[in-house]
Order: sequence, then C-alpha cells, then structure tokens
Amino acid sequence: VVIDVLRASTTIAVAIANGARQVIPCESAEEAVTRSKAFERDDMLLAGERKMLPIPGFDLGNSPLEFTADVVGGKTVLLTTTNGTAALVAVQSAPLVYVGALVNFSAVLAHMREHAEGESDVAIVCAGRERQFSLEDAVCAGGFVRGLLRRNPRLAMNDAALATLHVQRRYRRDLPAMMADATHAAALTKAGFGDDVACCAALDTYPVVPILIDRQITRLHRGRPIPARRGSGRG
Ligand code: MLT
Repeated sequence: VVIDVLRASTTIAVAIANGARQVIPCESAEEAVTRSKAFERDDMLLAGERKMLPIPGFDLGNSPLEFTADVVGGKTVLLTTTNGTAALVAVQSAPLVYVGALVNFSAVLAHMREHAEGESDVAIVCAGRERQFSLEDAVCAGGFVRGLLRRNPRLAMNDAALATLHVQRRYRRDLPAMMADATHAAALTKAGFGDDVACCAALDTYPVVPILIDRQITRLHRGRPIPARRGSGRG
C-alpha cells in the first residue's frame, strides 16, 4: 500500500472515485507528455505538480478538489508528482499495489486485512516529502497497522510499523490537529492550498480502492476478482 496523504494518494482516490477511467503515475513531466500521445486528446488529462504548483501547460495540478466528476469522468489521467507517483513507480513490480489515504482508509484496510489473514506480507510505503519522514503519512500508516492488529494481535511487525502505531495513537482522534503539526500541510496552506489540507484530512469520504497493475491505477470492485497482470497468468 502506497500512502501520500498530501496529496498524491488522496488525489488518486478522488479521481478514481469521481469516475476517472484510470490514473497513470509518471516519473516526470516529459514521461507524462510522451505517454499521453497514446490517447486521443479529449480522452486524457495531464496533471501534476512541482513544488506543489501545477506544471505549466498541464490541464490540472495535484489538488484533489480539481478532480471533480465533471472534469475527470471517463478520462485517463497522466499524473506526475514529486513524491507520490515516484513511490508508486518504485513499487510497481510488487504483486499487488493499493493506493491508500485517509479519504479511502476503511476501504483499503478491508482489503489489506484479507491479505494479512493469508500468507502474504503487507508492506506500507510512505511517500513522505522530499525523501523525509512526514507526519500525515505515518499517522495513516499507523491506522492501517492498528486495523490489522485488531484483527490479528499476533501479527509480526517491524519497528517502523510499531513507531507509526505510537504516532497514530497521539493523533487518531484529532486529524485536524495532526495536520496543524505537519510541515507539508503548513507549506500547502502557505501556498494557498489550505482547502486541500482539509480535504486530505477527512476520513473515508471517498471509499474506493485504487489498484495499480501494469502502470495503470483503476478502481477495484469488491467481490470482483483482482485483474490479472499482463503475462502473469494470475486470476
Ligand atoms: C507529492 O507527490 O510530492 C505531493 O503530492 C506533493 C503535493 O502536491 O503536495
């Protein structure tokens, strides 16, 4: 599960919940432009940020509030962000990758529990900010760890998972207070994106499970089989 609460994983959850056909995470603006050529202009949107601001010439920035149903419905979104899409690209070869945030927390946790009950290891990848620890990702990760432990108290976990659990305990009843302490939230607010911070702190407002397969993020529907990777033979 890849987490970038501020803002990429929230933006992806909102885009998928609002009917985007797929989101393609790209490592650079150049890659997004190159990949966009495979689509009709009306069928796709270029989106992303650098230093929190929209990329010149792109259709959208990285503000979840921009990704309304009117704007993204039926479209392919090519998204490039500083930390979030880089983390997604880094783990794309994992057997199964979900995109987690606070806005889709319970939906993703339900799927994680299914995997943790089997033989699978679960890795929670926090995108952080500029390769540094970030409070909001740790609190979200700690929520997932807590949710898994409640189901199976004997689950083995590493020290990083234990640390997120302690951080989450401090903030779990007051996510706005967590955002008030988070440096990325302060930077976004200063840059004029205070409404994004509030949107990203809202628990379970977009209950979708975005799943990354073959560099495409689509919506996983409960009860339907997980789509097979191309050439994997997995059902
Ligand atoms: C990122 O991926 O680096 C973030 O989503 C940055 C942001 O737009 O807040």
